[in-house]
Amino acid sequence: MIVNKFFFPGSFDPITLGHQNIIEKVSKITDHLIIGIGNHHEKQSLLNIKVRETLLQQSIDELKVKNMRLPLIDIIIFDGLLVDAAKNNDCDVIVRGIRDTSDLNYELRMYNTNRKMNDKIETFFVATDNSLNHVSSSLVRQIYRLGGKIDALVPTSVNKYLISNVNSITKNV
Ligand code: PNS
Repeated sequence: MIVNKFFFPGSFDPITLGHQNIIEKVSKITDHLIIGIGNHHEKQSLLNIKVRETLLQQSIDELKVKNMRLPLIDIIIFDGLLVDAAKNNDCDVIVRGIRDTSDLNYELRMYNTNRKMNDKIETFFVATDNSLNHVSSSLVRQIYRLGGKIDALVPTSVNKYLISNVNSITKNV
């Protein structure tokens, strides 16, 4: 089987430098990447899904400006099961980033559950660069809500957006 279309899911609330790092790495081995924005139903979101989509697109544009060779990248929004979203987008492979062993434990449970639901879909794990192992969307949300600086954790466009819209975003949460 030749695999060339990958599905990279996440809540991207917001996209971080860690996610951007995974996109850069996966871009080297695929010629079509679908990035799926889903909802983690147990987490209270910071940004609405359309804003997350816009910030994802802007973060990918930042990679283009850096002259990164990128595959065709489509961003989609999905509601429902991850395996169904991958299948509906003709992807046999899901990509997940791994920072450390606690990610691995969680991801392996998700992997096995997804395999039980659809054994035709594989998951490939990609290690995040060591320098970004501490970065997570949930930490970004927490620091941002408490008024801290997040510029070392998120792409430039995300930092700009969050700073410019701090009043409207934080008054709703
Ligand atoms: O940003 P996250 O928390 O890593 O993204 C999680 C996401 C959206 C990939 C996950 O919550 C998910 O797969 N949601 C879809 C619902 C689903 O399929 N659940 C069963 C997975 S075992």
